Amino acid sequence: MPPYRSPSAAVTQLLSGAIVITAAGCAGDSLGPPGTGDPPPPPVGDAIAGAVAFVENCGTCHAAQDGFDLAFFAFPDTTIVRRAVAHVDTGTALDIVAHIRTIEARSAERTTRVFQPLEVVLGSDLEFALDVFGADRWPADLTGDGLLAIDPRAVKVAVEFPIWSVEETNIDWMPAKPIGDALLDFDGGSARFALDRYYTTRSLDDLARTVVALRIADRSFENLDAPCIEDPNADDPLALFRAEECFEARRWTSTLVAQHMLRTGLEMPISPVLHDVWWDVGNAARRAAQRRDDFDNAVENWASWMYLGWSFAPQQHASVYLGIALNELGLPRHSTFVALRSQVARGRRSLAPYRDVRNAAIFSPATWTRDAVRFGFGHLIARLEEGDAPRDEALAEAEQSVEDAYEIAARKLFQIDVDELQELRDRVLDLLR
Ligand code: HEC
Repeated sequence: MPPYRSPSAAVTQLLSGAIVITAAGCAGDSLGPPGTGDPPPPPVGDAIAGAVAFVENCGTCHAAQDGFDLAFFAFPDTTIVRRAVAHVDTGTALDIVAHIRTIEARSAERTTRVFQPLEVVLGSDLEFALDVFGADRWPADLTGDGLLAIDPRAVKVAVEFPIWSVEETNIDWMPAKPIGDALLDFDGGSARFALDRYYTTRSLDDLARTVVALRIADRSFENLDAPCIEDPNADDPLALFRAEECFEARRWTSTLVAQHMLRTGLEMPISPVLHDVWWDVGNAARRAAQRRDDFDNAVENWASWMYLGWSFAPQQHASVYLGIALNELGLPRHSTFVALRSQVARGRRSLAPYRDVRNAAIFSPATWTRDAVRFGFGHLIARLEEGDAPRDEALAEAEQSVEDAYEIAARKLFQIDVDELQELRDRVLDLLR
């Protein structure tokens, strides 16, 4: 521990800088003489002591451990000091500032919605349709390959992705708690081992090992203290599920992945193992919403974290989960897109594309239903004609999903459109049988 130092003249000067506003347009709590636009004075602390203090006092929550996030999001010195003094004395806070200033990071606005596609949040569901399809309808001439060519990472949406740090709400990345020992120590300490290695190597492999170990530890039945246990065979499958804790643990892991990507400049899909932890955060919020827990912004967190994970790995998860959240937020055009964009991304011999078309029938606005379900059936026909059928044990459910999609759509449509869908449905069922 660095020795305690009482606030020096420099500290007083630094802290009083909080009320000095620099050139117009800068954040209110940045430093520097008024009006000159000069860079702030060099930090007065000891950067090496600050690095050590950061690991000890901040690195349990700021999971990269070296303060990368505070440098990347360009938090002003005064903000760092203000937050730091909740955990350390002011002298140490200044050391931490000095340390943060040694970190080389491309800086982003602190209000950045991390990984928000094209850095734009659209105003509405309708705007989304106009932006991606040029009209308020599912495009009748869109082919499966055409849809597959639309990269979800490059489609603007009206879903707000989380900001790094927001003090007033829980719609942000930063976990309010350190990751628990119960997760780090599980399975002979495999997560702790991988994490310690990661802090030394900063390699993608060690990151992936850490994430895998933590994802197993957070839900494993063998881990008596796992916060995210779901037991489909129990009377109450969520009896052991502690939503808030699960959400925090998964946010912690999520920040580790995000900082790795921001640090290395990787913005493309890397591995479902890594992106799924973002989806997992949304799933913790979904469970809280479903159970009507006292949990702030459950649906918003559910939708935005799942969409974030989905946009990097659209082949991965059942489209029903994200779709429900989007529809609850009044975004049925988004959920139709999610269902069908997932459908074309699915692997071979999967049951999922059959469920996707059913979900498209459920989620779509009535004016989209005919073309959306026609697309979904057309895609199933194309798969089946190429010999890509679901496995035998899933055939019955695939058929049922096709029947359901048709029935649900028929209730939304005029008879003339129903007749056309019926023909397509029969073609799918013929090929399936
Ligand atoms: C117990 C967990 C925890 C610890 C330990 C912790 N922080 Fe944080 N920090 C957070 C959370 C959570 C946020 C996000 C904002 C919020 O929810 O209050 C945050 C946000 C911040 C911010 C940004 C605030 C803003 O204006 O948005 C700074 C700067 C910061 N922390 C610095 C530090 C420093 C420096 C230390 C160590 C001296 C530290 N924190 C230790 C949890 C922690």
